[in-house]
Amino acid sequence: MRRLWRPVVEGLVPYDAGKPLETLMAELGLTELVRLSSNENPLGPSPRVVEAIRLEARRVHLYPDSDSFAVRDALARRLGISPDQIMVGNGADELISLVARAAFDPGDEAVVPQPSFEPYTTSVALAGGRAIPSPLAGYETDLDDVRRRVTARTKAVILCSPHNPAATIIRRASLLAFLDALGADSPLVVLDEAYCDFVDDAEYPNGVTLLAQYPRLLILRTFSKVAALAGLRVGYAVGSPETVDRLNRVREPYNVNRLGQVAALAALEDVEHWERTKRVTREERAFLARELAKRGVTFPPSQANFLLVKVADAGALRERLLRAGLVVRDGAAVGFPGHLRISIGTRETNERLLRVFDEA
Ligand SMILES: Cc1ncc(COP(=O)(O)O)c(C=O)c1O
Repeated sequence: MRRLWRPVVEGLVPYDAGKPLETLMAELGLTELVRLSSNENPLGPSPRVVEAIRLEARRVHLYPDSDSFAVRDALARRLGISPDQIMVGNGADELISLVARAAFDPGDEAVVPQPSFEPYTTSVALAGGRAIPSPLAGYETDLDDVRRRVTARTKAVILCSPHNPAATIIRRASLLAFLDALGADSPLVVLDEAYCDFVDDAEYPNGVTLLAQYPRLLILRTFSKVAALAGLRVGYAVGSPETVDRLNRVREPYNVNRLGQVAALAALEDVEHWERTKRVTREERAFLARELAKRGVTFPPSQANFLLVKVADAGALRERLLRAGLVVRDGAAVGFPGHLRISIGTRETNERLLRVFDEA
């Protein structure tokens, strides 16, 4: 028999993002459902983004700018770097798979903390490489363990800070010690900062400022969270011109669509909306953390726009929340059985969530 599909593909399970909200609402007979399972922005997009999309809609018969130049230029000015250090992708998700596609040959390895954002492992496997898991120390990334697993076969280390799903960060001193220990012939160190805007810990390093000293770092960021563009799929990577050039060689020619590009530009210009999202998320995170702690609920201190809460019966509580119109992520699906991952909502949503905890 002719074998059509690669063995690695046969072993994969399709990504399960849950049912569409409309389907769930119809099934549950609810008229309103709030999704707290995907770490989206509860404030919605900036009005300037909506207007930019409206104006651009009449040009969707034209291919987008293949190089996303205007977005790279705006980001470069904001970050104080050169546009040739930036690559824009169809979400940070695309950039993760481009790294794997550009770097891995069969037998190559990537050290990946486990659990962490699942696409790292799948992308490495699909590219023919092998993900070497490094267990977390409780809820924290264990950089000593990661370093011990780096060998001559290691092409990349893939870290996220804030961590998804634990919501913890890697602090400046330990990151620098780790990078120094890897030395000049370091593997690529991918540092996924998807949630960086929500951090208020002074010990959190800004990865972009470390690039001059550590050229094998690659920082990933996204417009999906703080800029509320999850539905348009825009992320970016910041690295050395050499790294960005290699990623550019393996991407699709028109990887970021026209509406995504104008929306990202408008989001960068609307500093007020950006700052409001940061402020509301941090305030609501503190509120929810305080209120859950009062109720005896435990969770690692969050620096992201979600909390990973430990609960006695995650399945039953998730069902109860669902019936109250709140969708949360079962920790078992993201490597933390006995937990729920709950995105920070508006005050009204958070109060509704607390009422369900009280009833339970
Ligand atoms: C750590 C992390 N990286 C990347 C992403 C994906 O970002 P994007 O929507 O830009 O593909 C997510 C999404 O939840 C995430 O949690």
